[in-house]
This record gives sequence, structure tokens and C-alpha cells, in this order.
Amino acid sequence: MLEDPSGLRATVLAHNAQAWDRLAASKAALAQPLTDGAFRDPHGWIGGGGSATRRWLPERFDGLEVLCVAAGGGKHGPLYAAAGARVTVVDLSPAMLALDHQVARERGINLQIVQGSMDDLSMFSVGQFDVVIHPVSTCYMPEVSRVFCEVSRVTKPGGLYVSQHKSPTSLQASLVPGASGRYELRSPQTRGTPLPPEMPSRLREFGVYEFVHSLSDLFGGICRAGFTIEDVCEPDHVQSHADQGSFAQRAAFLPPYIRILARSNGGQAFRGSPVASGLKSGLQME
Ligand SMILES: C[S@@+](CC[C@H](N)C(=O)[O-])C[C@H]1O[C@@H](n2cnc3c(N)ncnc32)[C@H](O)[C@@H]1O
Repeated sequence: MLEDPSGLRATVLAHNAQAWDRLAASKAALAQPLTDGAFRDPHGWIGGGGSATRRWLPERFDGLEVLCVAAGGGKHGPLYAAAGARVTVVDLSPAMLALDHQVARERGINLQIVQGSMDDLSMFSVGQFDVVIHPVSTCYMPEVSRVFCEVSRVTKPGGLYVSQHKSPTSLQASLVPGASGRYELRSPQTRGTPLPPEMPSRLREFGVYEFVHSLSDLFGGICRAGFTIEDVCEPDHVQSHADQGSFAQRAAFLPPYIRILARSNGGQAFRGSPVASGLKSGLQME
């Protein structure tokens, strides 16, 4: 049992599990499994994982243990498994995980599928995974330090953690420009207070509690949990001539996401014991 004196964690998890079940039932964009094209070329779809100029992910996944955290929806897990990895998907929402079950069944893919919260990975062993893929989802947690400690605990020394987040500034700002044509900074970075609800859009999920996390909590939290950050990018969603107020036009002012490449340094901070020298994950970056 995790400590939760205020009951906030339990309230948020219960609320968000139901909200994501509803999003899955309504076939929301983030609950759309991948189609045939992706499975014909899984390596191509996965790509380098980071910036255009630097490859983050290995060329090959054969035999690697990959954990896809908060990644239900029939996308990440099946794709990495199709690329040759031994994949485990963990997610809070049974309906999102049902999509992974469905894709795995339809495509004859072997997946380990586990229901749980990203801040309690106690069902997994220390150093179980070579690579952890974490799509945008820390915004659904009131507090993130425990998430990073848990990911660190289950990542092999030398293993990779690819961690994507909604940018705090983007979450704090208005979704559409005001009469002046400008975006406004509206919400402060207040720990543990959910953002006001918004209309559904690519930037906010309908009915889900979302929280802003400072860069200190995101970058610092990853470092303090036992990772070394090796690279960071803001995926480019800008399109020239995009309509005023559109996702692509707003992205020129407020890049919506931050993607971080981190490598486990053995998690000394969390595990409390130095890693034996010479211990390597066997994972090679090309
Ligand atoms: C952005 S979606 C996942 C990826 C999505 N299928 C896509 O296409 O990018 C975010 C996921 O986080 C999950 N989630 C929310 N809170 C969570 C928590 N505390 N622990 C684990 N998963 C959580 C939701 O159920 C949802 O499936």
C-alpha cells in the first residue's frame, strides 16, 4: 500500500480509470489501435525515438525486455512486440488494456498485459527491463517523484527510459488565442491541484484530472530517481499556414510535448546500493 494520507492519489486514480474507460468506449483518438501499415513496418513506425539528428532507440529490439508504461490503447505494446521485443504493457484503465488484448489476439502477438498505476510497479522485479517507453501520462498523476523512482527500480542499469510529457507551459496556457490573437498563461504550477476542465481537444483529455508538473519535478525527478538525462526534444508539430488557433499554429508558440531520453545509472539514489562495476545491460545504441 502506498502512503496517501490525503486520499488524493486514490481519488485521482479512481476518477481517471473511469474517465479513460469512457474515452476508450467512445473511440477517442488516443484509444485507436494501430492499423495494418504500422505492423508491416514496425521499425519504421517506431523510428529513432528522438530528435531528427540523433537516434535514441536501438536499431533492433530482438530479445529486449520492453516495458510500455501507461501505454494502453493497442499502439505501443503491440508495435514494440512486432519489432521483436518481449513487451509488458501496464495501464490504469481496463478498457484501454482491452484494446491491447484485442490487437494482440487479432495479430497473433505475444504481450504481457498488466493493470496498475505507473507509481506502483511492485509487480515487476528490480532491473527487469532493458527499455521503458512512457508515452504522455504523468499529467494524470498529482505527484510524479514516485513514478520516476518506480521506473528506475525496474530498469536495468544502463537501460533506457524514453519519457514523454505534456509541457508545463502548454498546460498552463489557454487552448485558443483571445481576441488579441495571443495565448494567455492561465494556471499556476500548483502541486496537487487539478487543472480546470476544458473542452476536448488534442491538448486536453475530456473528463480526466490533469496536473501541471514543473520542469524541476520532471527533469529533476528523473535525475533524482537514478537516471542520467542524455537528450531532450520537443517534437515538432508546427505547420506553416496552419489556421489561427489550430493545434499546429499554437505549437509554434507553445510546443505541446517534451520528450526525454534517460539512462539508468543503477538507481543508487533509490536502491541505496552501488551497482557492481562492470555491470552492463547488453543494450547497444547504434
Ligand atoms: C496518452 S494515453 C496512452 C497512449 C495512447 N494509446 C497513445 O496513442 O498515445 C495515456 C494512458 O495513460 C493511462 N493512465 C492514466 N493514469 C494512469 C496511471 N496512474 N497509471 C497507469 N496508466 C495511467 C490511461 O489509461 C491511458 O491509457
